[in-house]
This record gives sequence, structure tokens and C-alpha cells, in this order.
Amino acid sequence: MQNAYLKIEQSSPLQGVAELTGAKNAVLVTIASLLLTSGKSVLRNVPYSADVLQMIALLEQLGAQVIFSPENHLLEVDTTHVNKWHVSAEIMKKMRASILVMGPLLARFGYADIALPGGCVLGTRPIDYHLNSFRKMGVEVAQDGDFLHGRASQLCAQKIVLAYPSVGATENIMMASVLTKGVTRIVNAALEPEVLDLIEVLKKMGAHIEIAPPATIVIEGVQEVHPIEHTILSDRLEAGSLLIAAAATGGSISIPQAPADALEVFLLKLEEMGHHITVGEHEVGITLHATKNPHAVSFKTSPYPGFPTDLQAPMMVLQCLAEGTSIIEETVFENRLVHVRELEKMGAQIVVHNNTATITGVEALYGAQVIASDIRAACALAIAGMAAKGTTIMTGVQHWKRGYESLEKKLALLGAHIWLHDDEDEMDMTPLNERSISKQIRA
Ligand code: UD1
Repeated sequence: MQNAYLKIEQSSPLQGVAELTGAKNAVLVTIASLLLTSGKSVLRNVPYSADVLQMIALLEQLGAQVIFSPENHLLEVDTTHVNKWHVSAEIMKKMRASILVMGPLLARFGYADIALPGGCVLGTRPIDYHLNSFRKMGVEVAQDGDFLHGRASQLCAQKIVLAYPSVGATENIMMASVLTKGVTRIVNAALEPEVLDLIEVLKKMGAHIEIAPPATIVIEGVQEVHPIEHTILSDRLEAGSLLIAAAATGGSISIPQAPADALEVFLLKLEEMGHHITVGEHEVGITLHATKNPHAVSFKTSPYPGFPTDLQAPMMVLQCLAEGTSIIEETVFENRLVHVRELEKMGAQIVVHNNTATITGVEALYGAQVIASDIRAACALAIAGMAAKGTTIMTGVQHWKRGYESLEKKLALLGAHIWLHDDEDEMDMTPLNERSISKQIRA
């Protein structure tokens, strides 16, 4: 029996100005990258989300000293005393992004003992690109049940060709390579804004990294890297979700920090629906005025700069309420249409065939009891609840809390009728004040 849930009532049109938090997909890898250094680093604009707390717990398990001041979004990480390379299954299973410590641990110690990662269930989500690339660089990888043991007396620079531009594999190989003598090339690398931000982070540490067309990252190994200060970039996916929430309720909002240049195809599709979009100077800042008569649009998800898979589920809510038939082809993940079943409970008309969803617009959605199966599905269902007649109760809120910092409060400030009812058994999300986060983590 789950006691934690989001309660959502049909909301009046969202209005106002929203601020963004730091990007989940940038902060997790940035924290992991600090394992390459020895000393104290400072990160700013760090979101207070359950995944960030998990990554902090992971680094503490390895010997790092961490002070998190969530009210200031300030994170201090001292990696001087990191002296372990064994990550428990308990932590690894909660978050797929924990695989991102493997590259830094191999680079710093030549060892990494980690359990197979967990996280959102989006198909099989293998880690073969990570492991095969490490093997090519000279790492012996052995599997013992659910545990992986990586060993490398010396990493060797190589040309690594990725069959698909995997974000996590690109990041992991880059981090493994910065201390590897010689030149490593990652061909068909992911170039998401969060990957580019990691390149900036590693360069600040003293790494030598260049991007060479087409989609190749070139890393020339250095002997050592040093601690940094860095501000996490604004969350483009949170921006996209807020814009969708405004569109779904027929509202008008502005997001001054929103990186429009990181959301081009997504914004194009909102405009094709009929929503009015204005972009600020230098591509920063987005304002949306919703149309009252949205049209159907179709898209396929693809690696950056295509339509982001992380906005596919929220966008489907708009298509459910648009006039006509929309088609989504999910090409990035093999099982990322689980939210369809839940939207159908709310009155949506969707037919799924393999990884393609055909959505026929309906007059209205209706409140229902729904279950979130992953972070972005949670976001989609919350938005559907705001647009739907009646009351929606969404369980699976651990996914909501993994990906967003108090998004329900941000939405409520814009006029959404949404409340988080928390559960004593879940992670305590009450703000901390200048104390080590470790005291707040429940094993
Ligand atoms: C990251 C993001 C996630 C986003 C995804 C795609 C983080 C913390 N998460 O996830 O929010 O949805 O990028 O933009 O940054 N694959 C393999 N073998 C591998 C690795 C990946 O087959 O070794 C496949 C995956 O199953 C998937 C595709 O490649 O089908 C893309 O995955 P990937 O880009 O690696 O996603 P993540 O890094 O896990």
C-alpha cells in the first residue's frame, strides 16, 4: 500500500513567471566527475531532488565529505579522502546514473566494483556500450551475479565508436579518458547540452577536450586534474514541462532562464500546434501564450538536437487534447510508452503499435487514479491531471521526487491545483540547513 501520492484538480490557466532549477541530467554526472579530483569542489544551482541525494550518498560511501545547503542550492564536495571503489547494490539499484562513477573510479584508482544499475524501467536499458568501451581501453570487466568488477593496471587511449550516441556512455568514456595517456576519440558521441556542460566541467579541471565534426569528442589525456567551482546549467526539460503545463491549461507563462537554443524542435512542435512562442535575446528566455484550439502534431524522438525523449510523455498530454490525430514514434528507448495505459484511464484515445503511438484528440480528459512508472511519466500524468475534469490521484511519486525539486510548488505558484501528500517511509525531503546530507539519507 502506497501512502504517498500527488492530488491534482483541474486547474485554471497557468499564469506568471517561473524559475528553473539546475538540470538533473547535468548535476548527476558533474557530481560523479568530481571523483577524478582530489580536493574540495563547489557546485552551485544544485537541485534538491532524490537522485541528487542518492549521488551524494554514493560519493560519501566512497569516502567523500559532502556539505549540501539545499536552500542555497550549494554543494561542497571534498574528495581528498576518497579511498574506496566499491558501490553497494542498495545505492546502485535506485538510480541508473550511478553507472557514471565507473569511468572516474577506473581513471583514478584502476578499480571499480559496482552493482548493475537500476533506475527508471525503460526497456532493457543495457550498459554494453559502457562496458565494451572500457574493455577496449584495457579494463578487465568481470560479472559476479549482480556485481561488476572493473580492473585496469593502465587505461589505453583508443578510438571508440558508439553504435548509438548514448549520453551515459559518452560521459563515462570521456571521464575515463581524461587521465589516460594519449588521445581518445569517441565517434558518434552524444552531444546533448548536458554532455557539452560536462566537457566544460572537465576542461575547468584541466582536461584537454575538443569536439571534431561529425560528432566526435577528442580527449588528450593529462596527468592530473584539479577541483573546480561550477554552476549547474538550467534544466531545459523542466522548462519544457512547465511550458507544456501552461499549454495544457490554456495559460500564459514566461521562463526567463529557459535555454531556447536547447529546445528548438520541441518549440517548433508547440508552434505547429498553434501555441504562441516568444524567445528572448541570445536565445535565453521563453514565453508561451496557449492557443484555445490546438492542432494535432506528429514527431519522432531522437538524440539531440531532435525532439527529446524526456519530453515525449508530457507532450502526449497536449496531443490527447488537440484536434485531429497525432503520431509519436519513440526511437530512443524501447519501452517508453507505459504512460499510455494511465492516460487511457483518464479518457485518452491512443493506439500503440510497437514503439509508435497514434493519438486521437478528445474533448476532455477526466480525473482518475493513475500510477507513475518513471520520472517523465510522472510529469505527464501530473499535467494531464491539471487539464482533466475532476480529481486525479497519482501514486509512484518517488519518480516525481527523483527528477524534480518541488515541481508541485512551482506549478502551484502558477495557479495549478496540485498537492504532494508525502509518506513517512519515503526519503525525507524537508529542507536541510547547512548540514551534511548524510544524516538525512535513510539506508
Ligand atoms: C540519459 C538521460 C535520460 C535521457 C537519455 C536519452 C541522464 C542521467 N539520463 O540517459 O534522462 O532520457 O539520456 O536522452 O542523463 N543504450 C544501449 N547500451 C548502452 C547504453 C545505452 O543500448 O550501453 C541504449 C539505451 O537502452 C537507449 C539508448 O541507448 O535505448 C539511449 O540511452 P542513453 O543515451 O545511454 O541514456 P542514459 O544515458 O541512460
